[in-house]
Amino acid sequence: MNRDPKSEQEIEQKKNCGGSRSADRERAAWSRREFLANSTGFAVAGAISGLAGNHPLSAHEMMARGSATKSLVSNPTPGKPRRIIIDTDPGIDDAMAIFLALRSPELKVEAITPVCGNVPLDLTLPNALRLVEIAGRTDVPVAAGASHPLVRRLVTSGHVHGVNGLAGVEFPEPKIKPVHETAPEIIRRIVRENPGEITIVAVGPLTNVAMALRADPELASMIPAVTIMGGSLSGGNITPAAEFNLYVDPEAARIVFDANIPLTMVGLDVTRKCLVSEQHIKQLEAASNPVSQAAGKIMRATYERMRHGGEVTEIALHDALAVASLIDPGVITRKDYYVEVETSGEWTAGQTLGFDGHGPVRKSPPMETSAPEPQPSEVPFKPNAQVAVGVDPDRFFRLLIPRLTGNAA
Ligand code: BDR
Ligand code: CA
Repeated sequence: MNRDPKSEQEIEQKKNCGGSRSADRERAAWSRREFLANSTGFAVAGAISGLAGNHPLSAHEMMARGSATKSLVSNPTPGKPRRIIIDTDPGIDDAMAIFLALRSPELKVEAITPVCGNVPLDLTLPNALRLVEIAGRTDVPVAAGASHPLVRRLVTSGHVHGVNGLAGVEFPEPKIKPVHETAPEIIRRIVRENPGEITIVAVGPLTNVAMALRADPELASMIPAVTIMGGSLSGGNITPAAEFNLYVDPEAARIVFDANIPLTMVGLDVTRKCLVSEQHIKQLEAASNPVSQAAGKIMRATYERMRHGGEVTEIALHDALAVASLIDPGVITRKDYYVEVETSGEWTAGQTLGFDGHGPVRKSPPMETSAPEPQPSEVPFKPNAQVAVGVDPDRFFRLLIPRLTGNAA
């Protein structure tokens, strides 16, 4: 294995993954310095430090344009379950995604790696442990991930997910513990031990995945596919421009999109069409198994908050759709795009911009300065992602609900 456990990056990973608050300032400064110095983050470095210079297309953009999407639907291990790592910030819809994955024979969950996002890591981590226990799948290792985005302050979404991340429903304290490896470490180890086999399913901010890729430049070539819940080509849900997961850590998202890994983006364009109904909740409540009961409680509590004027106005099962797309690829339709993640906007950080092949890819015009004439700011279109552009919500719920209730045919 290509790793030096004493490297600064691994020390940083340990600090960021469940590290103490007292280390925050040091971590933030280190993280920013390291991110700016890293070649993958070079373009972001320019933008953050105001040193973008005259290069109309940055190093990462050139890299991304060199990539081409492959078929992402096929399982790298045909005839066997697809092996996945779930990176997640549970989260009400994360809970449904984890339950769906753990109860689907088409998938083999190799690890779950909680990250900060919907609520802080000190809640997402025990929530992940609880969900694994409820599902009776304590064989699946859970590894603590990042407690902060790469270079930004953490913004959470407790107004949607409840103070504890599970709609305020109280489940017992988990008995199992996280493994000793951090999330980036376990991602690296499992992928390296099984090159070409492990699909990453990331349904939270992309901090953990970016840290793993950044620490190990060869890793990307060993990952056959990444499916993310995140992004949108049709407006945001946390700002007018950005979807929540990308908004929380846009710099991490950019690293993942630019890693040259076949990537499927299951964004708000499709996930906000997968809305839970009263009927779905009743079906969950009617089944007696612990997963269905827990899912029913979480959904019921969310529904009640919504009815009583909470900020949530409808329950979209964003993350579960991303998992469902690996079990039944026909639940979504995909289209090749070149997706760029905005990192420098005052109002737009985390926005995903999709170029679909109609003409070359262009940036905004350079500012008028005394600097020499910039290079031409156009390059030919080349996709770096398959974006989910269509969904069959009935087909999704016909898969999801029986898997959770245990009434699957
Ligand atoms: C995404 O943000 C989170 O709040 C959800 O869990 C989902 O991953 C939707 O924008
Ligand atoms: Ca999530």
